[in-house]
Amino acid sequence: MPSVPAFLYGTAWKEERTAALTELAIRAGFRAIDTANQRRHYFEAGVGEGLNAAYRAGVVTRGDLFLQTKFTYQRGQDHRLPYDPAAPLTDQVAQSLASSLEHLGTDYVDSLALHGPSSGYEWTTDDAEVWEAMRVERDAGRALRLGVSNVSLRHLEQMAATRAEPPAFVQNRCFARLGWDREVRSFCNQHKIIYQGFSLLTANPEVLNHPPLIALAAKLKASPAQVVFSFACAVGILPLTGTSSAEHMRHDLESLSLEHPPDLVRAIESMAG
Ligand SMILES: NC(=O)c1ccc[n+]([C@@H]2O[C@H](COP(=O)([O-])OP(=O)(O)OC[C@H]3O[C@@H](n4cnc5c(N)ncnc54)[C@H](OP(=O)(O)O)[C@@H]3O)[C@@H](O)[C@H]2O)c1
Repeated sequence: MPSVPAFLYGTAWKEERTAALTELAIRAGFRAIDTANQRRHYFEAGVGEGLNAAYRAGVVTRGDLFLQTKFTYQRGQDHRLPYDPAAPLTDQVAQSLASSLEHLGTDYVDSLALHGPSSGYEWTTDDAEVWEAMRVERDAGRALRLGVSNVSLRHLEQMAATRAEPPAFVQNRCFARLGWDREVRSFCNQHKIIYQGFSLLTANPEVLNHPPLIALAAKLKASPAQVVFSFACAVGILPLTGTSSAEHMRHDLESLSLEHPPDLVRAIESMAG
């Protein structure tokens, strides 16, 4: 099984800049790309164009990359659906992934995630059906690993209670005030699930403006954003960034080599919740 790179480049909200920014991110050194077959927030075909440009220029080959996409229920989509909404959910999953593979110009993705459960409170029978359909896609080799996104501890516990195969990944918005999603991260640790954190900067402005963190950043000759990303790695969060800036792409990747003392890591972990 290919290893998972240490930083994911996210492609949401980039519209007509998607192809150029995907190519730029790869040229900057990102080897993991996150997208979704949800035209409302992502332009997955644009991601495919960016990949192609990077392949053509000889920057990388498909095998160098970790590509992750998502299946999104109709309620999370606009009218531009990648499946027939009248089809059973099992078929919707297959149609969505087939369309993703076409967009991305590949015959497999490294990870296929359920973008969000059908209910904010429960792991429903619809989710169980979708998860089973995703497992079938995985077993057919069209996705190497499976994930779930936007889940609570309750979702994960209920999913486990159905005796379903556990996900390889959880991808959640990571709020510092919730101990950086402490409960879900702890479940992930116990079950050997890789936790992917998004909105590490945008969900946590209070952390970026926290004087001790600003002081630590100055001491490390880094930016507060870099400290947040390197802290995330230190506590086992696989971070996502969706920066549109070439300079921030470089800074974000450089943050992986920052080191800070374990007591400071603990202090950041509990600074806001
Ligand atoms: N599963 C889901 O439901 C879900 C939801 C949301 C997002 N995601 C994924 O996560 C990815 C990332 O999204 P996100 O919510 O984390 O937000 P984002 O779109 O990555 O926004 C990050 C913000 O931080 C700034 N930034 C990045 N690096 C910086 C640096 N070194 N210094 C200063 N500012 C910096 C960016 O500004 P600049 O552009 O100016 O650098 C941008 O404004 C998305 O593209 C998507 O793939 C998934």
